[in-house]
Amino acid sequence: MADLAQLRTDAEALIDAAGSAAELEELRVRFLGRKSELTQALRSIGELPPEQRGPVGKQANEVREALEALLGSRTAELEAAELDRRLVEDRVDVTLPGDPPAPVGHLHLVSQIRRRMEDVCIGLGFSVVEGPEIEYDYYNFTALNHPPEHPARLPQDTFYLAEQVLLRTHTSPMQVRAMELQEPPIYIVVPGRVYRPDTADATHVPMFHQLEGLAIDEDLTLADLQGTLLAFARQMFGEHTEVRLRPGYFPFTEPSVEVDVSCFRCGGTGIAPAGIQPADLKRKGAIPAPIGGPERCPTCKGEGWIEILGSGMVDPNVLDHVLARGYDKERVQGFAWGMGIERIAMLVYQVPDLRMLFDNDLRVLDQFGAGA
Ligand code: DAH
Repeated sequence: MADLAQLRTDAEALIDAAGSAAELEELRVRFLGRKSELTQALRSIGELPPEQRGPVGKQANEVREALEALLGSRTAELEAAELDRRLVEDRVDVTLPGDPPAPVGHLHLVSQIRRRMEDVCIGLGFSVVEGPEIEYDYYNFTALNHPPEHPARLPQDTFYLAEQVLLRTHTSPMQVRAMELQEPPIYIVVPGRVYRPDTADATHVPMFHQLEGLAIDEDLTLADLQGTLLAFARQMFGEHTEVRLRPGYFPFTEPSVEVDVSCFRCGGTGIAPAGIQPADLKRKGAIPAPIGGPERCPTCKGEGWIEILGSGMVDPNVLDHVLARGYDKERVQGFAWGMGIERIAMLVYQVPDLRMLFDNDLRVLDQFGAGA
């Protein structure tokens, strides 16, 4: 009998001292499991002399019940302590600042300006089409009325990939491709990349973007060209903008014109608006003002006009290449223009160096956020 009393004391001391659910489980197996001393004692009660069976059985059952109860209460205690610990550890401090939102990107300035130019042209009734950047000599030069000896065809001015295949030097090849696909009338603009083997400097990079325009219809005249470009310029640069046509030369237009817009910075006066710093003037390479005279506008360099594009009436020789498609030069005429997208971006946002648009320096690009 002393055994069972001792067993109870030992077990209770160990159960009291246990620090985890795993330890308690171990003790349960040790003291109450099938192979435990207590279970063995209960099982062998039948072998005891009859007068001992009652008291021993009673005591053994009491020990079992006492240990079961103690294990149960210790388990509950440990679980409660564990929960308290977790509640303290996992407490969320709702007053801490949250994660900062990820920076939101925006379109590159060139894409923004391209989209604005496209939108204006769509509003004027033109649709946007795109063409291949790897082009045949035929579409880039021959069909656009460049004679075989034209200097633009030289490898100094054109990247050749094969004898008759090149990187397009302008978006104009889409004029002929579009006319091959579609009968007149046709009103399209063609945005896209163009390539020229130029050494990069403040106004040249070997890849840049153009927007080409082409209108073919009956009874189109130079007046339609001027009206279209005036409407375009007023939406791009402001409602008081004027356009000026000067004689020019392109192989695929006759007559050809260079088109200027009145300077949107100085209102066409050529005089620097108030607030322009002399440093600005130097950076833009403005013509120095006469001593004592007003500062010249840095955007138009004191001219009052800014050249923005080349243009003209489509040369009948170009239409000859798509005669089969119904482009009868006796019946339909057209006008076309081509302009650099970076040039417009630089003028509008006063970007002093073309390379800045391609350096991918976020300190520069971030200045032209989504709202720019
Ligand atoms: N393709 C010319 C260039 O890259 C620009 C141009 C001039 C396009 C006259 C035209 C045009 O459509 O009619 O310099």
